[in-house]
Amino acid sequence: MNFKKNESSQKLRGAYYTPADLADFLASWVSVKNPDRILEPSCGDGVFFEGIARHVGDAEVQAFEIDGVEAKKAYQRAKTSGLSNVRINDKDFLGWAYWAMKQKSERFAAVVGNPPFVRYQYLPPLFQDLAGRIFRELDCKFTKHTNAWVPFILASMALLKRGGRLAMVVPAEIIHVTHAQSLRSYLGCECSRLIVVDPEELWFEGTLQGAVILLAEKKSSSRSRGEGLGIYPVRGREFLKTAPEEIFRTPHSINGKTVEGKWTRALLNQSTRSLLDELEYRDDVHRFDDIAEVNVGIVTGANKFFLIDDETVRHYKLKKWAHPMFGRSEHCPGVIYDEMQHEENAAKGKPTNFVWFQDTSVEKNKLGQSYIELGEDQDFHKRYKCRIRTPWYSVPSVYSTEIGMLKRSHDTPRLILNRLNAFTTDTAYRVRSSVGTAEQLVYAFTNGLTALSAELEGRHYGGGVLELVPSEIERLLLPLPTKIKPDVGDLDKAVRTMPAELVLESQSKKVLGSLGLSNSDQAELLSGWRKLRNRRHRVPEAA
Ligand SMILES: C[S@@+](CC[C@H](N)C(=O)[O-])C[C@H]1O[C@@H](n2cnc3c(N)ncnc32)[C@H](O)[C@@H]1O
Repeated sequence: MNFKKNESSQKLRGAYYTPADLADFLASWVSVKNPDRILEPSCGDGVFFEGIARHVGDAEVQAFEIDGVEAKKAYQRAKTSGLSNVRINDKDFLGWAYWAMKQKSERFAAVVGNPPFVRYQYLPPLFQDLAGRIFRELDCKFTKHTNAWVPFILASMALLKRGGRLAMVVPAEIIHVTHAQSLRSYLGCECSRLIVVDPEELWFEGTLQGAVILLAEKKSSSRSRGEGLGIYPVRGREFLKTAPEEIFRTPHSINGKTVEGKWTRALLNQSTRSLLDELEYRDDVHRFDDIAEVNVGIVTGANKFFLIDDETVRHYKLKKWAHPMFGRSEHCPGVIYDEMQHEENAAKGKPTNFVWFQDTSVEKNKLGQSYIELGEDQDFHKRYKCRIRTPWYSVPSVYSTEIGMLKRSHDTPRLILNRLNAFTTDTAYRVRSSVGTAEQLVYAFTNGLTALSAELEGRHYGGGVLELVPSEIERLLLPLPTKIKPDVGDLDKAVRTMPAELVLESQSKKVLGSLGLSNSDQAELLSGWRKLRNRRHRVPEAA
């Protein structure tokens, strides 16, 4: 967990400035509409003003910048760029935007910018409150998982005239994060066409956060039909030589569920999307929650205290309370967690034991008592989850399931057959199969269709690790063939020894092949998965 006090002021302001060539490109795209009034909601040192002056001319510009020093620099830049009608407000944009939305008086023909990236918890209480109000004003579902850039875009779009253009550099997570769903839906409703320019590389040095360009044209009438969303993948800066209007018109745009949900589907070819639509309605392909149940693992509140290695168990004589557990990918390199794997982990000194004190009997034991005191010396008993229970060291909701699943994965998620009935902490989920056996579920889960649907449903952050939360797992597409005998031992060996791509290929043959899916359909799904996995890992596509 990161804490606000440890973050740099640059990070707390979300101040990563746009390279001049990209700002110029965005200004050039909005200039096609000859905008007379332009909004820059968070102008930093004013990089967009140069582009506005070059492409639009001396338009009226309303800008905001919360940092007074940067606002002054921006003002100078506007002047030297030749803009004479620029107003730079060195105050918060959200407060003004909320007022302007209520007044319904301010409207802009264009918006350009790059909104701040600041987590909701790091925003001052006043901005948190304003963010919530902006969502509500637009009838958008609000969540405290939001980030400053979301209400910035919502408000900017709300203040745009019908037929106007919004061009912004925005976090790449706009495509998939759950907390931006109401923004995606709002844009889908309000815009006649949406294009995301999606670069292979990171545009901002020193951040892990990818960025994309959002080109959004507002509908000329609220009743007209939108064309939907298109994605324009780019590598390097070559695309800047193409006219922005051409880039805006080139991608085939997609409507319907692609725009309504996560936009990740738009990254796939038309043929892959049609195949997915077709498979979704087959009787032998299920949504995960139709055939299994997923729940979070054990929440200890202090993993350092409750998850310990054999040596600590021995030292404090805690054997009576120690139970096998796993929770990290290095604990389970295959798809079976058994005695042998457990021994191997223990021999490497990994924290393979979960200490479960169901009552206060541990205090009667001298060494046990000293272990509890050790935890209290380190203030574990003051942690939220610990202090709300009595005794603080008695963890609730302790049970194991036949199947486990790690929250995060590098290539593709997999289910783990828990032959040892080991416990799992909150880095893993507890899964129960409701149709078929645990073996069948674990075996069938590894295939190209489920891997692709995990890329579509899941989320990833800087670093490229795929993460799935229970509601996303519940939506995964899972084939459940009844004709094949699941050889989990064979799959386990393959996962441990072969690259993920080859495992998926051979499993697809067995699992999807037994549903009658042709080799070319299997290849289509694998290629869709590879495309999204590579994008997540930032591996260049083969030219
Ligand atoms: C990502 S930077 C972009 C700056 C500039 N638009 C660019 O593209 O180079 C975001 C800017 O938003 C400013 N900012 C942060 N919170 C703000 C707020 N509530 N109102 C106005 N500006 C804000 C930051 O100080 C920072 O300069």
